[in-house]
Amino acid sequence: MTRTTRRGLAAAGLAALAAPRVARAQAGFPNRPITMTIPFAPGGPTDIVGRLLAESMSREIGQPVVVENSTGAGGTLGAQRVATARPDGYSILLHHIGMGVIPTMYRRLAYDPVNGFEPLGLVTEVPMTLVGRKELPAANLAELVAFMKAQGDRFNLADAGIGSSSALCGALLANAIGARPTVIPFRGTGPAMQEILGGRVDLLCDQTTQTTEYIRSGAVRVFATPSRARIATLPDIPTTAEAGLPGFEVTVWHGLYAPRGTPAPVCARLTQSLQAALRDPRIVQRFTEIGTAPVPQEDATAEAHRRFWMADIARWKPVIEATNAYAD
Ligand code: MLT
Repeated sequence: MTRTTRRGLAAAGLAALAAPRVARAQAGFPNRPITMTIPFAPGGPTDIVGRLLAESMSREIGQPVVVENSTGAGGTLGAQRVATARPDGYSILLHHIGMGVIPTMYRRLAYDPVNGFEPLGLVTEVPMTLVGRKELPAANLAELVAFMKAQGDRFNLADAGIGSSSALCGALLANAIGARPTVIPFRGTGPAMQEILGGRVDLLCDQTTQTTEYIRSGAVRVFATPSRARIATLPDIPTTAEAGLPGFEVTVWHGLYAPRGTPAPVCARLTQSLQAALRDPRIVQRFTEIGTAPVPQEDATAEAHRRFWMADIARWKPVIEATNAYAD
């Protein structure tokens, strides 16, 4: 017997001794609260989706799923918190399209934005809307574009920092029309929306999960949706293409992640809980009211979400390179 084979057998023996303990620990999972990190501010679109999901998952999994907002740096600080957490299933991350753009946008990070995670499943896809303060002197997208150009850097555009969907959408808009607005970053579009409502900031590109109620009540002015088709629940809003700006499309997706190295049975249990939440009639109803829908069950799996996520990284890479939209 060679030394390598003997070492291999010894390792296998040790693994066999350890296996029952690991299996027992996983069979009991979860036996304490799970922390779901939201990388943006309370009250905003990611927080809204995350809290609904956490509430439903808590009921299904039999332990509290506690939401913690860990904000800043365009969602990278919250993502770093989970990527570097103990991979035991008790730390999970609800993130969004930022997972698709950050690996290219950020050339220096204190965590691995791709290999630092185990994807658990896609959650939802949310349309965006271009909303402005109520008093903005523009009745439609063409007038908004003219006003933005005339105002130059006196025009203010809010976002949630480089890596956020609002920043991606805002940068693509400014680029498409050749405007140079002053960008005001917040820790999420929850606080950014308060500035739009207060009339202190001009424009924000944000998800229907937050904007629907403000659009319906007339608290904000809405110009277009950068979606391929009109939004079923807000059918009067034109798409950017219909309003004269073709080739400018952003839809936000949300996914659930665990740190890399989380045991496969634990990931599978979390995915099972995610899928149950996406079938929960309360989630289906609330998501529908705020302009979105749970994804089909077959998209809420680790394998399907990994494929979707990798395709999204590949989709945005050339766009980010062409527009030099790097964070550094
Ligand atoms: C938020 O939850 O604040 C937003 O999703 C941030 C963004 O991507 O714009």
